[in-house]
Amino acid sequence: MKKIFFLLAITAFCSVTFAQFSRADRDSIANFTRIDHQQMLKQLGIANDQLRPGPSGDPKASDAANSREENVNKYMLPDPLVLKNGKKVIGEETWWKVRRPEIEDDFENEVYGRLPENIPVVEWQIVSVKDTLIGNFPIKEKILKGVVDNSAYSKIAVEIELLVATPVDATKAVPVVMEFGFINSPFFNEQVKPIGLISSGEPTWKEQLISKGWGYAIIVPSSIQADNGAGLTRGIIGLVNKGEYRKPDDWGTLRAWAWGASKAIDYFETDTDVDANRIAIEGLSRYGKAALVTMAFEPRISLGFIGSSGAGGAKILRRVFGEQVENLASSHEYHWFCGNFIKYASILTPDDLPVDAHELIALCAPRPVFISAGSPFVEGQWIDARGMFLAGVHASPVYELLGMEGLGTTKFPQLGTALTDGEIAFRQHSGGHSTGPNWSTWIAWACRYWGDCLYYK
Ligand code: GCU
Repeated sequence: MKKIFFLLAITAFCSVTFAQFSRADRDSIANFTRIDHQQMLKQLGIANDQLRPGPSGDPKASDAANSREENVNKYMLPDPLVLKNGKKVIGEETWWKVRRPEIEDDFENEVYGRLPENIPVVEWQIVSVKDTLIGNFPIKEKILKGVVDNSAYSKIAVEIELLVATPVDATKAVPVVMEFGFINSPFFNEQVKPIGLISSGEPTWKEQLISKGWGYAIIVPSSIQADNGAGLTRGIIGLVNKGEYRKPDDWGTLRAWAWGASKAIDYFETDTDVDANRIAIEGLSRYGKAALVTMAFEPRISLGFIGSSGAGGAKILRRVFGEQVENLASSHEYHWFCGNFIKYASILTPDDLPVDAHELIALCAPRPVFISAGSPFVEGQWIDARGMFLAGVHASPVYELLGMEGLGTTKFPQLGTALTDGEIAFRQHSGGHSTGPNWSTWIAWACRYWGDCLYYK
């Protein structure tokens, strides 16, 4: 039953991203996705029968993904503090000048892809500004579009959708949490609530942030790059490639979404309502992966809130538990990554990856990052909460080298326990596939870094 909840949650999430498509559109997306996946296999010299299938996300299936700790494989992780030449990283300088660039390079070549050199400029235009309410809190809400210069290839237009909300009564620039999400969703409409009535749950994340005197922003990933393989010849990736297929180390969708978030920060730097030195990034599931990739590659992100990101996000890829590299490399998900990543589900294995998820977290150091998961009894085991915790454990030595605290323990905590003493935080809340129940814990943790927090004054 609980497993069904998880599947429902994932299905609901996917159907929100798919809702705008008709049946015919969906068939054509599936068809063009297959064609794109096949051409990438061909570029890589991989035959179809070399591609290993991933396990099923359905716990009842005969090929269900492993969900038992005693069946986890033994694996060896690359050491983030050992250089490729075998020498140990001793000082901070070697980290910044040698080891960090090595790790970044491996992620770009083999996992998420490289940013092309010729990405066109983005011009931010204000579509509307209004004073309105979120719940009962007065906000100033701006809708913007980031128009990408397409003069080099006018067949593809890209307009990034962004919403920014700050408290109406703010007297200075405020910190902002940017979410990868939806601006106009039929599922998440906030209405004004009758004051004084006992509400059935926590206030929304938006209300919680505004009530602290902070702001929120929403950036719409699909306005940057479609969430499927068929879209790789369109969106920002297609625009730069002038409608041609990707090469094996070209950027994937996660990197493209992360690039869009960086462009939003360019805008924040010009908005006097926003304190661009205090920007956090948040996302759930595939958007949780995008949030972590953004933070790893964008130094202007000050804090992270990485929700149930699982494989391809904060979870150790070598760990045989929940979703596997073979799932990520399938035609449903390969577009999130560069083409080269498919090698690790075919002619190579996950153990051959030059990097693993702990090093993606290490790229965020010394900036504080919060890894969030739901309950295995409600969310299921596909996202592998322990695999994400372990990535935090193995990223900790890098934080410590830089004078920070890391996770502070190697012992997997009880459900609901917040590990928030250090700069890598972790909490598995008791709910499902959502960041929702962890917002108040995240905000209390973030207050330590951002201060200037109404409740805590
Ligand atoms: C699937 C996928 C996950 C992803 C999730 C989501 O379950 O396998 O990797 O995080 O969808 O984004 O909803």
